[in-house]
Amino acid sequence: MRILALETSCDETSVAILETDGRFFTLHANLTASQIKDHAPYGGVVPEVAARRHVDVVYPLLEAAGVPHDGEGIDAVAVTAGPGLVPALRIGVEVAKILAHVWRKPLIPVNHVEGHLYSVCLPDPKDPEAVRQPTGDRLLFPALCLPVSGKHTELILMRGHGDYELIGMTRDDAAGEAFDKVAHLVGLPYPGGPAISAEAKKGNGAAILFPRPMLDSKDFDFSFSGLKTAVAVHLKSHPIRNASDLADVCASFQEAVVDVLATKTLRAVEALRPRTVLLTGGVSANARLREEFASRLRERHPDVPFLCPALAFTGDNAAMIAAAGFFRAQRQEFVDPLTLEADPNMRLA
Ligand code: KG4
Ligand code: ZN
Repeated sequence: MRILALETSCDETSVAILETDGRFFTLHANLTASQIKDHAPYGGVVPEVAARRHVDVVYPLLEAAGVPHDGEGIDAVAVTAGPGLVPALRIGVEVAKILAHVWRKPLIPVNHVEGHLYSVCLPDPKDPEAVRQPTGDRLLFPALCLPVSGKHTELILMRGHGDYELIGMTRDDAAGEAFDKVAHLVGLPYPGGPAISAEAKKGNGAAILFPRPMLDSKDFDFSFSGLKTAVAVHLKSHPIRNASDLADVCASFQEAVVDVLATKTLRAVEALRPRTVLLTGGVSANARLREEFASRLRERHPDVPFLCPALAFTGDNAAMIAAAGFFRAQRQEFVDPLTLEADPNMRLA
């Protein structure tokens, strides 16, 4: 089965063609155009600007991906239907509706967060051996999933394909949002995650003891806005005077985020006994976070495999939407192209 997928939920326009026999995934194209530069002057993503940029690049991306004009060889069209920014989501949704309608192919609406979870099934383009591994088999259920991005920080128990239970979520900022806001406070560029983690490598993570919000709460929820405030308060009394101060603030902030995410996830592993743990989304590109998850799991639950997407699939991309779309297609979860609407608050569970 060959799936064409589109992703336009925020500030990345992405088009992918994924082929699968159910066990092996072959990615024929995965092209992503980022709009980071367009939104930088506004200090955040402007929905109308995002929508206009999606319109500008989606057709050139379809051409560059080699999507045949008559849909020949494409078996289904998958698209991110939500959650996300309505004006942005609508571009991908409308293009997918038109293609599915004209080609008379099934249309599969995919939840963006679900796409992040299935990103672990995609073969690493940097690993020539990966295409020979049945990546779809790596998910062992129940799977405990932590999608962490600029908009999401959730703990989800995945009992099977399409069977999700929300275990915990952030009560305010997402972890990636905290990285972006702290980067702004210390004068680093957007997106903050890569910039902070690069600075953190040069610093001492134990230099400043920032709070670990909700670490001791009985639930599996998170909160990151207080941590951002703690960094702001610290900077008032200890302004950054040199490169070493900057590196120490970044490393100490990153350590607090990593500690909270790892501690809560490990507690959920103990309570729920999953057969595998997934760390996905933009923040899962963070090397320190991956290392801490891997070492704590190895030490306390060596029998529970820990899965992360290849770095190419941590941020928003259409390949992950195609992978999630395939499992929905197996369950015949198609919709009439004339009725699909973007859903900014689409829920997984
Ligand atoms: O998944 P994603 O591309 O888009 C959303 O769905 O939000 O995630 C983007 C987020 C941004 O907040 C960015 O700062 C963060 O992921 N991020 C990182 C790293 N790379 C990206 N956060 C921490 N460390 C990184 N290396
Ligand atoms: Zn995302």
